[in-house]
Amino acid sequence: MLHTNITSEGGSLRFAGQDVTELARRFGTPLYLLDVDRVRQNCRAYTAALSEFAPNGGAAMYASKSLCFTGIYPVIAEERMRADVVSCGEIYTAVRAGFDPALLYFHSNNKTAEDIEYALDAGVGCFVVDNPEELAALNAAAAERGKTQQVLLRVSPGIDPHTFKAVATGQLDSKFGVAIETGDAERFVRAAVDCANVDVLGLHCHIGSQIFDAAPFVDAIAAMTDFISDISLKTGFVCRVLDLGGGVGVRYTDKDPEVDIYTSVRTICIALASACAEKGLDAPFLLLEPGRSISADAGMTLYTVGSIKELPGIRNWVCIDGSMDDNPRYCLYGSEYTVYNASRADESADYVCTVAGRCCESGDMIGEGLSIARPRVGDVLAVAVTGSYNYSMASNYNRLPRPALIMLENGEAKVGIRRETFEDLVACDAEV
Ligand code: LLP
Repeated sequence: MLHTNITSEGGSLRFAGQDVTELARRFGTPLYLLDVDRVRQNCRAYTAALSEFAPNGGAAMYASKSLCFTGIYPVIAEERMRADVVSCGEIYTAVRAGFDPALLYFHSNNKTAEDIEYALDAGVGCFVVDNPEELAALNAAAAERGKTQQVLLRVSPGIDPHTFKAVATGQLDSKFGVAIETGDAERFVRAAVDCANVDVLGLHCHIGSQIFDAAPFVDAIAAMTDFISDISLKTGFVCRVLDLGGGVGVRYTDKDPEVDIYTSVRTICIALASACAEKGLDAPFLLLEPGRSISADAGMTLYTVGSIKELPGIRNWVCIDGSMDDNPRYCLYGSEYTVYNASRADESADYVCTVAGRCCESGDMIGEGLSIARPRVGDVLAVAVTGSYNYSMASNYNRLPRPALIMLENGEAKVGIRRETFEDLVACDAEV
């Protein structure tokens, strides 16, 4: 099996120790599952490696965008993680869950005036300021409130992360952050330290997502520490905190390498320690912002097979009751998944097929060329590693209600997000 939380017993697939066909019967399909123990293990790998190897201390914050709902925040808080938020909706969800706003880091490349005011009033601990316009607006809004707001400045280090285009963010030609290469980042830091109502803790960069290779992170550390060293010589600016963003990859199929979080974080810490030593810098406190590597392999989605169409010499279509609405990643990025026929976990996976959804779009698929045990109508298919960027990117296209999400922990199953109803779908529509 792809990950240790997926096993099979007596012909049925088990996830987090629970029989998924039984969960499908009990809660209906489509259904998102979340293995809470796996979320915790992933968090612990980050906090352990950071506490052991970060040269001057460190902390991990969970990137909420990967999977944001009320029930995730108590888990994140219990695991002593901070959280990255990118919208007032995410701030609202975290605060509603009782998460300490002082531990929130507010990203986004185009915060509106309302966003800035909302986050200031919510007591968000740190803004990750993306651009000079935001800096000026934040400084003014903080001044109006008689506050000094802690910030990190987002710079773009000019690194190619060797990942797919949609998630590469650290290169020069990007909407995110201020480029080092053009000299704009230096002007940005100078402007920020002159702002009376912001306290510049340090710098942020995020080079991309689904990165397996350590090299782009090491390159980013080299570029960031070069910049820190240069700017501190020129201006005396002390970078107390360095946030290297998220991006550690996860294994979706057996084509992807196995990733060990602890080892990846250790590599990052060692690279930071040696870059700082080489450049005579005091090592900054290190922040990391993992999303996918916390929630992805803690997720699984269950579907029921509704129809099967075999076109000899062309392909076998297996149609399920889910769609691009609950997992748009194959349509958007061609992202590959591992699919199991959970009802026939002891049969050989030699039936090659396309698993398609039920939206009115030909491209509505979970994947093509998938090998599963020959399905029958009514079988439960399980798509592995769907904990990140599935529910959080779900839509109601074709007015399909979003599935429920069930949290699995200690052999128990509880509703984390209830299934949407038709009433939910029309809740914002005016009456006619
Ligand atoms: N920090 C920042 C500033 C980010 O932009 C992101 C992801 C993260 C942290 C978390 O990165 P992670 O550890 O999850 O790789 N929808 C795409 C992924 C978009 C990632 C956006 N930013 C997908 O489904 O692959």
